[in-house]
Amino acid sequence: MAHQHDVLVIGAGGSGLTAALYAARRGANVGVISKLYPTRSHTGAAQGGIGAALGNVEEDHWEWHMFDTVKGGDYLTDQDVAEVFAREVIEAVIDLEHMGLPFDRLPSGKIAQRRFGGHTREYGKAPVHRAAHAADRTGHMILQTLYQQSVKHGITFYNEFHVLDVIFTEDGRAIGVVALEFATGEIHTFQAKSIVIASGGFGRMFKVTSNAFTLTGDMQAILYRKGWIPLEDMEFYQFHPTGLYRLGILVTEGARGEGGILRNASGERFMERYAPTIKDLAPRDMVSRAMYLEIREGRGCGPNKDYICLDLTHLDPEIIEKKLPDIAEFSRTYLGVDPVKEPIPVVPTAHYAMGGIPTTINGEVIKDENNTPIPGLFAAGESACVSLHGANRLGTNSLGELVVFGRRAGIAAARFAQRETFIDLPPNATEAARELISRLKANTMGEPAAAIRRDLQETMMENASVFRTEELLEKQIGILKELMDRYERVVVQDKGDRYNADLIDAIELGFLLDDAEALVHAAKNRKESRGAHAREDYPERDDENWLKHTLIYKRGKGEVEFRYKPVTITKFQPKPRTY
Ligand code: FUM
Repeated sequence: MAHQHDVLVIGAGGSGLTAALYAARRGANVGVISKLYPTRSHTGAAQGGIGAALGNVEEDHWEWHMFDTVKGGDYLTDQDVAEVFAREVIEAVIDLEHMGLPFDRLPSGKIAQRRFGGHTREYGKAPVHRAAHAADRTGHMILQTLYQQSVKHGITFYNEFHVLDVIFTEDGRAIGVVALEFATGEIHTFQAKSIVIASGGFGRMFKVTSNAFTLTGDMQAILYRKGWIPLEDMEFYQFHPTGLYRLGILVTEGARGEGGILRNASGERFMERYAPTIKDLAPRDMVSRAMYLEIREGRGCGPNKDYICLDLTHLDPEIIEKKLPDIAEFSRTYLGVDPVKEPIPVVPTAHYAMGGIPTTINGEVIKDENNTPIPGLFAAGESACVSLHGANRLGTNSLGELVVFGRRAGIAAARFAQRETFIDLPPNATEAARELISRLKANTMGEPAAAIRRDLQETMMENASVFRTEELLEKQIGILKELMDRYERVVVQDKGDRYNADLIDAIELGFLLDDAEALVHAAKNRKESRGAHAREDYPERDDENWLKHTLIYKRGKGEVEFRYKPVTITKFQPKPRTY
């Protein structure tokens, strides 16, 4: 079946819905393709808040927010992007409020704000209340609000559709996509004047992750496979300090924002040693590393000394029940631990990709170090890399990014669509997608996707997670080559068309393998430690050689090429990063 929209958005999380909404408000005919029913998108799992210098609790300033973002990103953040972000996110939060988002309130009636990791006042002096929140369901509320608005604006949704390919003209304009309808197995084509990618991250390449099963980096891999579109800063992957022990389910940093404390086996508040000024509210890369070190040095909690305790027992139980109801429920349900009475066992969990599809400040996807835009192609949110987060994202800045850069991408896409005409898709547009499905269904002698995925997740955790070395990364490159060989023989047992989850699993595994290849090669290539990229063999940040963004291009199985882009520095010169 063939469809046509001025603006086609891929992904119905916070950035996709914001882009769709702002394009529709400018009169574009907008379609949204989603793997899920929109309100089940992963933005709904974001808990603690959206950061904006509203100053509702104490004085705050957009420039302090900009500074925290740049320092949190270990100076790899593009500062023009951080400035636009810190200024525009204030208006974006008010906009969400006006759309009906039920934020928690202060007694004064203003939007309630809580403290969060790395957010400070006066350029690092003390933690600040900057995270506007709706209990610990902020992402959920944003998603519901944006979806209601999207329905009101007549946006067309294609739910449970999986994009398999993006179609370009010979001179490189994006003109449409090919997608598989889960319910029927039918292949659909979508012709569009502009396409906005907003399809989220790829945390499912790791064994312990806060990410939903759907986060398999599909669009990053689809573009990377083309060979002429790079991925940017893929080496920077964030581990959130507090995932539920063994499961990885997110326990919001808002718990520490409300006063929660991380303790080791002897009950010590060990973050006092690692970040004496802001302690448990240090940025995530630092807290995750500290937790790993405590466990590695034998100070972990429990019979196997393999987790850290998140202690909320000193908080007023009413704060836990009213401000952190979801995480209290998760802890009780999944671990049988009541956080009112005993500490929650936690471990770092794979959470967020700082890198992704490179874009300009207006969401245009670029193809090289000269920022050359690809006509008709835009991206926003976690699937994109606008270079807001640099080497390490601050908590609450992803929800802010979704609305600020989702809006910019939606507006830019609508403008492009106003100027341009539709271009016919070539007669063979669906060929690659059909060939992929036939090949996967034809295999009979290999192994199921689950076995290869398990090995991918376990080895990525061992060799490419919080701490890295040349030796481990080299080993992982070899493992990935073997996994790719095994993948060529992956067997899809269900040969049917309708709701073929077996087929989808296999397709998504292929995407994850390509994304993992980009991440591991980029991590091996960057010979320094910066933000979330901690090389034990290169423990120092090296601004002389590595204050630059990585662009990685696929050049064949296991073969890649690197190019580099300068970091934009405006107000804040790089300094040693201490808290
Ligand atoms: O901890 C959290 O609530 C997560 C927020 C984020 O990733 O921004």
